[in-house]
Amino acid sequence: MAAVKIAPSVLAWDLGDLDKAVEISVKGGADQIHLDVIDGHFAPNITFGPGTVKALRRLTDMKFDTHLMIDNPGAYAEKFMDAGSDLLTFHAEILSGSSFDDIYRTVSSRKKEVGIAIKPQTELPKWAAERLDKISTLVIMTVNPGFSGQKMDMSVMPKLQKLGRLVKEKGLEVDLEIDGGVEPENAAEVVKRGGNVLVAGAGVYSKKDPVGAISVLRRAATEGQAAD
Ligand code: DX5
Ligand code: ZN
Repeated sequence: MAAVKIAPSVLAWDLGDLDKAVEISVKGGADQIHLDVIDGHFAPNITFGPGTVKALRRLTDMKFDTHLMIDNPGAYAEKFMDAGSDLLTFHAEILSGSSFDDIYRTVSSRKKEVGIAIKPQTELPKWAAERLDKISTLVIMTVNPGFSGQKMDMSVMPKLQKLGRLVKEKGLEVDLEIDGGVEPENAAEVVKRGGNVLVAGAGVYSKKDPVGAISVLRRAATEGQAAD
C-alpha cells in the first residue's frame, strides 16, 4: 500500500507571509507543499504565480506540488518549471487527450511530474483513464476549487474508491491525492477509500499548533491504513 503523504496547502496561511508557511511545513515534516495557483477564471479566486513559487523555492528542497487552477495551464508550464515546481497538476475539465499529450511532452522532457486533477462533480474522462501511466498523481478534489476552509464533500468517496481500484488493476504507482477539507476527523476514511496524499490547508494552517498538526494528520491517516 502506498505511503501516506501530507501536503500542506499554503493557501490557508497569510499570503503575505508565505515564508512562514513553508517553514511550518518543513518543521512539521510534511512530504510536499501544495501550491494553489488560481487565476480568477477557472476558479473564483486569485492567488499567486511563478514569481512566488520561485521566491519560495530558495527556502527548501521539499517537493513543490503545484495545482494549476487556471484557464490556459499549458502556456504556463515552462514558467512554473523554471520557478521550481516539481509536480504540475492540470485540470481534466479544460484538457483533451491531445492537449494533455502536448503538455506531457513539455513537462516530462524536463523530468518533472505531471498530475491530473478533477473537481468533485467530474468523472475521470476516458482520455485521462487511458493515460494514467503517464502521471504521478491523480488529484481528486473534495471541494469546489477556489478557497481553503470548505467542508469535505463526502459524496466523492465512491469515486475515490473506484479510481483507487482502477489504478490498482492497472498495476500503476499513481498517488491518489485528496484536496479539500481534509481534517484529522476524515483522514482515516479518505485513506481507507484509497487516498494516500492528503492536501490540508485549514487542517494544518488554521490549527493552534500548525507544526504539530502535520503529525496529527499523519497519525489519523495511518489509522485508516491499519483498519484496511
Ligand atoms: C481549493 C484548493 C485546495 C484548498 C485546500 O481550490 O485546491 O488546495 O486550498 O484547503 P483546505 O484543506 O482548507 O480545504
Ligand atoms: Zn489545491
